[in-house]
Amino acid sequence: MVKFEFRNPTHIVFGEGQIAALRNLIPMGTRVLLLYGGGSIKRNGVYNQVLAALEGCKLAEFAGIEVNPHYETILKAAEVARQANVGIILAVGGGSVIDAAKFLASVVTAENRDPWDDFAAGRYPQEILPVGCVLTLPATGSESNAVSVISSIERDLKIPFANEAARPTFAIMDPATMASLDKRQLGNGVVDAFTHVVEQYLTIPGNTPVQYGYSEVLLRTLIEWGPKLLEDNSAEARENVMWAANQALNGLIGTGVRQDWSTHMIGHAITAIYGIDHARTLSLVMPSLLRFKADRKQVMLARYARNVWGIAATDDKMAAEQGIDLTEGFFRQMGLPVKPADVAPIEISPDDVIAHLQRAGQIRLGEMADITPLQVRDILVHAAS
Ligand code: NZQ
Ligand code: ZN
Repeated sequence: MVKFEFRNPTHIVFGEGQIAALRNLIPMGTRVLLLYGGGSIKRNGVYNQVLAALEGCKLAEFAGIEVNPHYETILKAAEVARQANVGIILAVGGGSVIDAAKFLASVVTAENRDPWDDFAAGRYPQEILPVGCVLTLPATGSESNAVSVISSIERDLKIPFANEAARPTFAIMDPATMASLDKRQLGNGVVDAFTHVVEQYLTIPGNTPVQYGYSEVLLRTLIEWGPKLLEDNSAEARENVMWAANQALNGLIGTGVRQDWSTHMIGHAITAIYGIDHARTLSLVMPSLLRFKADRKQVMLARYARNVWGIAATDDKMAAEQGIDLTEGFFRQMGLPVKPADVAPIEISPDDVIAHLQRAGQIRLGEMADITPLQVRDILVHAAS
């Protein structure tokens, strides 16, 4: 097992009707910055539920956090937070709003008013604002992890930032908020969570049976309940997917194992250049990347094929290939693209993707740090064939 420390202090409040619990989580009189996106929370009633629960608090608001949140917008939100002298940031939305809130929490207290480079180098202020969140889209796990994925328009970059202090102090996860999600967002969420497990599990074998066993349960849960969620968006499907997506990226299954994340870094580049939804870049890249790395990942791929998909083949190579084919089929079943042609008329240029990875300093990817720009080109070319 790789040495690790594990601490996840986020207080999770899960279940239908739990938005009302906000009044116990934020003391009366607190100055709150309510942060949200393009207005889905106003259309589905979540905004009104939040206001009702926060009666007695002093509220400032910042709306308009974009999908794939922009650094430049977060700088504007920081001005609002400073002027209102808020004591907590409350993010209400999906991964984009929560990521923005977690990043904003450090921007507000940073001495440098343009702290991108400091944060990219891991230099965060010692004190940051606390963040709470009401999750409305299960996908990213952002509600209880330390990561913010932020885009800078000026720098032409989309990169992840990790600050332990930014883990939300609480996360309200009310599956009823998912009722207004369309099939595209539901499918995106399931596939994003699925790839989070894969990137921590399908690497090189280690002495980590607990992590592997839990990863397999999460994958089987998403395979069973993802299609049901698309079919009828039932209460059972919502709660199972919401909880699985949280557990997929709250740090637990990543303890003690080698991690990959190459699909995600290539995917961030594709989103930055073409604006394709985060999960849809992952479904485009992952099958080709797994085929390309099938030899290096063969032991875990064969285990995955047997324990997650129930494949009977005794030959590891054959089992691995069948496991990858079934993964691709699952992404399709969830309504996501698996070939560059599926996103036509967009044409993905390997050169542009590689240039983004180079700007981001992501030139050796994967659990063995052996995915170079040359290999990224091959992966994208194979994806297209
Ligand atoms: O902006 P609003 O109006 O709220 O609408 C959003 C947005 O248009 C809408 N939506 C959210 N909840 C809804 C809803 N519509 C109807 N009903 C609801 N209940 O859905 C759209 C997408 O929202 P977004 O927050 O962008 O989606 P997601 O949760 O998939 O987040 C994607 C972002 O998270 C990053 C991605 O890179 C991307 O920027 N990630 C963050 C990670 C992390 N923090 O650990 C890890 C992930 O790998 C990922 O990179
Ligand atoms: Zn993701």
